[in-house]
Amino acid sequence: MLNLDTRSDAFLTDPWPVLKKFRQEAPICWSESEKLFNVFRHEDIAKLFLDQRFTVEYPWRTTTHLFGKTLLDMEGEEQQRLKKIIASSVLTGINVRNFSEKFVEPTVIKLIDDVVYEPSFDFMAEIASRVPTLATCQFLGIPLDQEKWLFEKMMVLMNHLGEIEINFEAVGDVHKEVDEWLTNILVNKFEQKQEDLGYMQMFDCVRDESMETIKLVYWTFLAGGIETSMCLLGNAFVILSNHQEWFKRLAEDSSMARLILNEALRLEPVQGNTVRFATQDLDLNGISIKKNQCVRLLLTSASRDESVFQEPDVFNPERSTRKRDLTFAIGTHACMGRNFTLTNSEIVLRTFWKKIQGVRDIDKIDTVIRGSLFRKPDSVWVNSKINTVKDCCLQA
Ligand code: HEM
Repeated sequence: MLNLDTRSDAFLTDPWPVLKKFRQEAPICWSESEKLFNVFRHEDIAKLFLDQRFTVEYPWRTTTHLFGKTLLDMEGEEQQRLKKIIASSVLTGINVRNFSEKFVEPTVIKLIDDVVYEPSFDFMAEIASRVPTLATCQFLGIPLDQEKWLFEKMMVLMNHLGEIEINFEAVGDVHKEVDEWLTNILVNKFEQKQEDLGYMQMFDCVRDESMETIKLVYWTFLAGGIETSMCLLGNAFVILSNHQEWFKRLAEDSSMARLILNEALRLEPVQGNTVRFATQDLDLNGISIKKNQCVRLLLTSASRDESVFQEPDVFNPERSTRKRDLTFAIGTHACMGRNFTLTNSEIVLRTFWKKIQGVRDIDKIDTVIRGSLFRKPDSVWVNSKINTVKDCCLQA
């Protein structure tokens, strides 16, 4: 019988052959060790996202322990109401564009300028982790000088996602610390005068809500936006460094930039899976699922499903199947940050390419994209090209 070990080194590094085998031989399959059903095929996952017999609500959900109640584990009118308010105000195309132009672009230019003159630097530490954290802080109105502290604390919480055993004491302490810190920031925000920044911040659209609701929204965005965007930047950087003609197209042809990033996300999805819970005893393609049982949707598997994507292991931004992409989920819980993260990532990669006119040697040993729930390279060492140019100019 096939057994999926999502913690094995082989799976973390190269899950693709195993996922393919499951798609072919056991597309919906019970895992005794994790006590859940794994779902592998694109078609089944897409249907399940829209199947109202499944819910995200579950009293012992890990996300609730780590972040408290968030939009991620809520159903119903309140979840829809908050999503609508946020989507129609701060996350509109125009507001995201203004935010990116006025805040993200200058921030990215500065961060890149700070490192490109070094002989070598780690793209993950200097850029991929910092841009999403700074963007999230600024978008939520959190003081930017708290960026590194916040990133550290959030990573402690995020690293527990997907774990079977949780160290509740350690997690509880960090949650409490961040929650109190957030309360102080929000209390101050009520007292501060609103500044005109040329774009709306999250607080502007939720300020009339209760403190509990505002914190719920803030926790959702802290949990949903930082690590995912860091992984996207790291994965896209590695893929594009190996396909430099596409890196150049992304930087120079804005009509292609989205297609290139979307294809990078398909080839190396950032979020490997998500879960749903059965609200009743039911039958799923002949498999009986009992009320409250968990199903895990393998988004990594869906994105390389050969019945949807021809030559799924090939990076081809010109493929025509983008509409079937499940990377950001579909249905009532579809990602709210898609445009935000893609716009900001485009800026990072374009600025980077223009600055150093291409990428040279990234350290192949360390640049393995790895992981189960979130997949990314731990580090991406870049030998700066510009260094020699600057030296030449200085000598001249
Ligand atoms: C490459 C980056 C990202 C990926 C791959 C991603 C992926 C996802 C996925 C798969 C879900 C659905 C989870 C589920 O249904 O169980 C989701 C939900 C969500 N994402 Fe993202 N996300 C990314 C970036 C962001 C960013 C930057 C933000 C915030 C600005 C964000 C905000 C959210 C929110 C608020 C939800 C919850 C929606 C709900 O439950 O109703 N995401 N994301």
